[in-house]
Amino acid sequence: VAQQLGHGHDGPMGTGVSDRDGRREVAAAALVDSGRLLLAQRVSPPELAGRWELPGGKIEPGETPAEGLSRELREELGIEAVVGHRVGVEVPLPNEMVLRAYAVELKSGVPVALEHAAVRWVGVDELADVDLVPNDRAWVPALVELLTRG
Ligand code: C5P
Repeated sequence: VAQQLGHGHDGPMGTGVSDRDGRREVAAAALVDSGRLLLAQRVSPPELAGRWELPGGKIEPGETPAEGLSRELREELGIEAVVGHRVGVEVPLPNEMVLRAYAVELKSGVPVALEHAAVRWVGVDELADVDLVPNDRAWVPALVELLTRG
């Protein structure tokens, strides 16, 4: 509601839309298909390049998290996806941002790395050995559960 009324808090970078706590959301996809999780390899910044993440991005003003995450997945991977429930803890980011993961199902298309170095599917047995970006490591227990119990 705050967003619709234009009462969202502008962060130091003038990022615009924010949640009711005044935080801008970054949404990431826990996309599971045939019992495996999709990971994408970052190309930037240098300290994260080569490491793997749940694909996603910043929610724009006027978008719901589901709309914003669907848009990011279309742009980054060329897929249509259905965004479901929250997964795991929320992770505070710098600049009044917060990172949240959502369970996502593939609706159509095959994920292609349009903005990443590569994409890969990992099973639950491989997850512990992947070089995940530090923020996403907090989700490993919840991802194991998602992959194990569906
Ligand atoms: O991908 P993008 O750079 O737009 O993401 C915005 C911020 O969220 C960055 O600081 C990025 O490191 C972080 N992020 C993350 N884990 C993800 C997706 C984004 O830590 N799975």
